[in-house]
Amino acid sequence: MSEISSILKESRKFEPKKEFSKSSHIGSMAAYNKLRKAADKNPTAFWNKQAKELQWQKPFKKTLEWKFPFVKWFTGGKLNAAVNAVDIHLTTGRRNKAAIIWEGEPGDVRTITYQQLSIEVNKLANSLRSMGVKKGDVVGIYMGMVPEASMAMLACARIGATHNVIFGGFSGEALRDRLNDSKAVCLLTQDGVYRRGVPSSLKGAIDEKLDEVPTLKNVLVLKRTNQETPMLEGRDQWWHEVVNPQSSECKAEVLDSEHPLFILYTSGSTGKPKGILHTTAGYLTQVKYSMRMVFDLQESDIYFCTADIGWITGHSYVTYGPLMNGATVFLYEGAPNFPAFDRFWDMIDRHKISIFYTAPTAIRAFMRAGDHLPKKHNLSSLRLLGSVGEPINPEAWMWYQKHIGGGKCPIVDTWWQTETGAIMVSPMPGAVPTKPGTATLPLPGILADVVNKDGKSCKANEGGLLVIKHPWPSMLRNVFGNTERYINAYFSDFKKQKYYFTGDGARKDKDGYIWIMGRVDDVVNVSGHRLGTAEVESALVAHPKVAEAAVVARPDDLKGSALVAFVTINIKDLLSNPTHLELEALKTELKNWVAKEIGPIAKPDDIRFTDALPKTRSGKIMRRLLREMVTTGKTTGDTSTLEDFSALEKLRADEE
Ligand code: WTA
Repeated sequence: MSEISSILKESRKFEPKKEFSKSSHIGSMAAYNKLRKAADKNPTAFWNKQAKELQWQKPFKKTLEWKFPFVKWFTGGKLNAAVNAVDIHLTTGRRNKAAIIWEGEPGDVRTITYQQLSIEVNKLANSLRSMGVKKGDVVGIYMGMVPEASMAMLACARIGATHNVIFGGFSGEALRDRLNDSKAVCLLTQDGVYRRGVPSSLKGAIDEKLDEVPTLKNVLVLKRTNQETPMLEGRDQWWHEVVNPQSSECKAEVLDSEHPLFILYTSGSTGKPKGILHTTAGYLTQVKYSMRMVFDLQESDIYFCTADIGWITGHSYVTYGPLMNGATVFLYEGAPNFPAFDRFWDMIDRHKISIFYTAPTAIRAFMRAGDHLPKKHNLSSLRLLGSVGEPINPEAWMWYQKHIGGGKCPIVDTWWQTETGAIMVSPMPGAVPTKPGTATLPLPGILADVVNKDGKSCKANEGGLLVIKHPWPSMLRNVFGNTERYINAYFSDFKKQKYYFTGDGARKDKDGYIWIMGRVDDVVNVSGHRLGTAEVESALVAHPKVAEAAVVARPDDLKGSALVAFVTINIKDLLSNPTHLELEALKTELKNWVAKEIGPIAKPDDIRFTDALPKTRSGKIMRRLLREMVTTGKTTGDTSTLEDFSALEKLRADEE
């Protein structure tokens, strides 16, 4: 029985370039196969070996304790995450290497060496202690993309406080709820952030809501934009006034392997946000390993990940991953389109960035803005590109490879989740051939599979459910304060088999490559065929005039359900100011295009043009809202993770 029908036809395949393979960590498919075979046979032994790459204050005794659905890794051991990200480099040649190169939106640049980072983190950690924050306390971080945001995470880790980063673009209500749910005692924030050329208030904008967090005792406010900021006497203090006088020595807490490192609320596209809990040793082990191998990190790289620290990529691959590996990480404060849509390309050129990791939603926005923008800059310093967050449609993949990678950079399409903590499925560059649109193969030691409802492996190209069959080190340990939700969300579908269910639909091709078809919640059922939205959207986006598409189903008397496609058009096609008739003609053209590309079954019944789609802060389309709108005409439920409310308002207005 096929759970989900797969209709995407994509047969392009790219072998790794010899030039790249020569010096990559894994240089051939043979070497890769050997490594993966051994790791998959005994994942516990494989991860045991990787855990030894960390610095331990006391070695662990037991590698894995698995009492379904609860897991512990590396028990009996003691360590500290900040020591592993910073201190280990202070006695090596990396002491004076740039840990962070930061560019503010107005163009100001700061370079921070590992030694300087250590000083700043220690002073901040001492400040937290001086305010009474203790091991086990939860500290909220509500900041923009400034180096202090990474320092804040590390300072918490150093004293054994659990950080809870809340995306700086969230509303006061969303912040309040997340602080209350996690019982935060302290908040690290800033006066304002630069966004699209103007300083915009951060602390001031949410200040009232802080009064509704009874556990909150201290608020530390970083000065960035110098704007007027309300300060509550006895609770709020300026960052520099507290931090500057502190000592640069700070003894790190010696923590158990399973000590809670952080809580991160998922900005998932459905339901109320969940506080995903990650602990120390397992998380660090897999993040360190995957960072080094997936990005083929080399000593001289400058690595730029565009993710905000407010989501998991900002934790694993902006902060902990690169720093544990002693890399130079490039951080950028502002909007990708300020002053123009070539800001990233300009920075890659000026800073000679060599690894670039971003999301498909951004890539599609760059495509929409036009090819001429990357052409203005010299991008030859790039040697590897990455993608994360959604299925990357083949069209965007090809554009990324050609216009950003100059045809020479491997693309690592990395599949993972807030819950998985680290990358789970991705090509190993230099070894694994890539195909546009697939994250390819699981990492060594990760037993990912596509199964049907009964937990049986699907045949090649048969659509099913993506599961993980064996625990992995950076796995979530719980939903904070809600074990029932932890069990129900991830471990109730395949209880008998003891599998983790990812919530994603997928298929495996004949080479074992995993193609993600989208969230199972978003699957559409047309005339008895269950289709992954990603595939229909991908076909639409392959049309030269289409920038982005979201597909949902609405009830239909005849077919059971009908497909509705929300479509945004490329800027240059929009500028030509199409008439109503032209738009109607384009609708017909797009319907026929989909029928031709993937078959009449997927032909949308209805196409609606829009300027913007409702997305989460991390760029995921909130299909739930669109679905509600086309079925009931209203949207209900949580919209706190919605990026731009006006996109939804506009769609609602069109509806009426
Ligand atoms: C989707 C982001 C296809 C998927 C790190 C997953 C992807 C959800 C990919 C997790 C990818 C992420 N290809 N789909 N390379 N990466 N996804 O928690 O549906 O923000 O379950 O973590 O994003 O999103 P989250």
